[in-house]
Amino acid sequence: MGFDQYHEPPEELSGETRTYVRVIQSLIEEGEAINWYTQRLAVEQNEEARAVMSQAQKEEFIHFGMNLEFLLRRTPIWRSILKNILFKKGDLIELAEKAEETIHK
Ligand SMILES: [Fe+2]
Repeated sequence: MGFDQYHEPPEELSGETRTYVRVIQSLIEEGEAINWYTQRLAVEQNEEARAVMSQAQKEEFIHFGMNLEFLLRRTPIWRSILKNILFKKGDLIELAEKAEETIHK
């Protein structure tokens, strides 16, 4: 098992930070799984196989969301910034610019 998720000596990080890092790593891995299923679904012709992979991808969406919510609960500024972008209609660049304003308040 590798410990590549650390960029600082793990023994210098608090238990809380190591947990946070593990969840970020999980978020990355769930994102990768979503990516892999997207690509597989794009090329798979067998309907039953497609149904299985589609169901599995939906579960990865849930896993990704749980990891993200875990992180946002522990990072209020991150949640505050994302409230300007997530689940909003409209131009993403304009929403991002509004989120930028949040940073500088
Ligand atoms: Fe997963």
